[in-house]
Amino acid sequence: MQAMGLIQENQPAKDTLQNKAQLWNHALSFIRSMSLKCAIELGIPDVLHNHGKPITLSELATFLSIPPSKTPALGSLMRLLVHSGLFASHRHQGGGEEESYFLTPTSQLLVKEEKACISPFALTALNWIVLVPGRRLGQWFRAGAAGETPFDMAHGKGLFGETNARAEFNEMFNEAMASDARLVTEVALLRRQWEVLRGVRSVVDVGGGTGTVAKSIAKALPEVRCMVLDLPHVVATIDEEQREGVEFIGGDIFERIPPADAVLLKWILHDWSDEDCIKILKRCKEAIPTKKDGGKVVIIDVVVGVTTDISISVESQLFLDMEMMILTTGKERSEIEWKRLFHAADFSDYKITPSMGLRSVIELYN
Ligand SMILES: C[S@@+](CC[C@H](N)C(=O)[O-])C[C@H]1O[C@@H](n2cnc3c(N)ncnc32)[C@H](O)[C@@H]1O
Repeated sequence: MQAMGLIQENQPAKDTLQNKAQLWNHALSFIRSMSLKCAIELGIPDVLHNHGKPITLSELATFLSIPPSKTPALGSLMRLLVHSGLFASHRHQGGGEEESYFLTPTSQLLVKEEKACISPFALTALNWIVLVPGRRLGQWFRAGAAGETPFDMAHGKGLFGETNARAEFNEMFNEAMASDARLVTEVALLRRQWEVLRGVRSVVDVGGGTGTVAKSIAKALPEVRCMVLDLPHVVATIDEEQREGVEFIGGDIFERIPPADAVLLKWILHDWSDEDCIKILKRCKEAIPTKKDGGKVVIIDVVVGVTTDISISVESQLFLDMEMMILTTGKERSEIEWKRLFHAADFSDYKITPSMGLRSVIELYN
C-alpha cells in the first residue's frame, strides 16, 4: 500500500506550511537563548539603561564599539529580541526615521546595577558546562544507567562534583543562585514573606549557598539566629567580612542538619530523586522540634501547575523540570507528588502558599 501524502484534501497545503513553521520554531528556538546570551555579553541592557531614552541602531553600535560592517547584524539581533518581547522599539514621523530601542520591564532585570539583576543566572544556564549534557538526552534515555544523569554522562561527575572540581564554575554557579536569591528576597521583603519565620529562635538555610537568603532573614528578623549549611567548597568561598552575622557551616545534608527551630530548603529538593528527598526530609525532621514547640520546615520550590497567575510560568516550570532531568536526579513536582514525599518522611501536616511567581512556599510540620 502506498503511504498517504500529507498534503491532500483534508490537510490543506496552508495547514502543512503552518505546521512546518511551527516545527522550525521548535528546532531553532535555541537562537532565542543564544541571542539573549549575546545581548547580555555585549552589555546591551546596560547601554539602553544608561542612555536613558530610546537609542537608534547606529548609536547603539557606537556605544558597543561594534564596527560599522556589523551594524546590520546588530539590527537583526535587535529585531529578533524586540519580536520576542525582550526589548521594545518605535519609529517617529510615519516610520521615516531610524528605529529606536528601549528596555521592557523584562530586560530591566538584565541591567547590572539593578539589585534584582538575573543576568548571572541566565549566563550560567547558557554556559557550555550546563548546555552540553542536553545534547545527550536521547542517548541517556536509551543507555543511561540507573541514577546516572545526562550531566554525569557528559562530564563524568555530577553537578556539585563539577562545582567542586572547577573553581571558576563554582563561583559562576554560586553567583547565579545568589542572583535568583536576591530577586526572591526583594519580593519576600516587600510582601513580608519572612513572617513565615516569625517566632522561631533559629533557622538553618540548608544548601543556602553564599547566604543571600539567610542575610535577608537576619535583617528582617534580627532576633533570629541564622545559619547556612552548604558543601565545604561553597562555604570556603565566603570571607569572614561577607558573613554579616550569619553562621556558615560546611557539611552534607545527607549526614546531619544542625538543630534549629526552622529549616529552610530553597530550590534544594528539586535537585534530588524522591528517594534522596525522603532522606533529606528525615534529616530535617531530626533537626527541628515538633509543631507544638514551634518547629517547621519551609520549602521554596515549584509546585507544578500552581503559579501566581502568570500563564508563562507554567511553561517555565516545564522547562525547569526538563533542566532538572538533564542536570540532576531531581524534577519539578505536583502537589500530589510533594504530598507523597511528606507522607513518606513522616510529616504530619503541610500548607502551600503560591506566592513567588513560579514557586510556592510550603510549610511542613512535624
Ligand atoms: C540549586 S542550589 C540552591 C542554592 C540556594 N538555596 C538558592 O536557592 O539560591 C543547591 C545548593 O545545594 C548545595 N548542595 C548540594 N549538595 C549538597 C550537600 N550534599 N550538602 C549540602 N549542600 C549541598 C549546593 O552547593 C548549592 O548551593
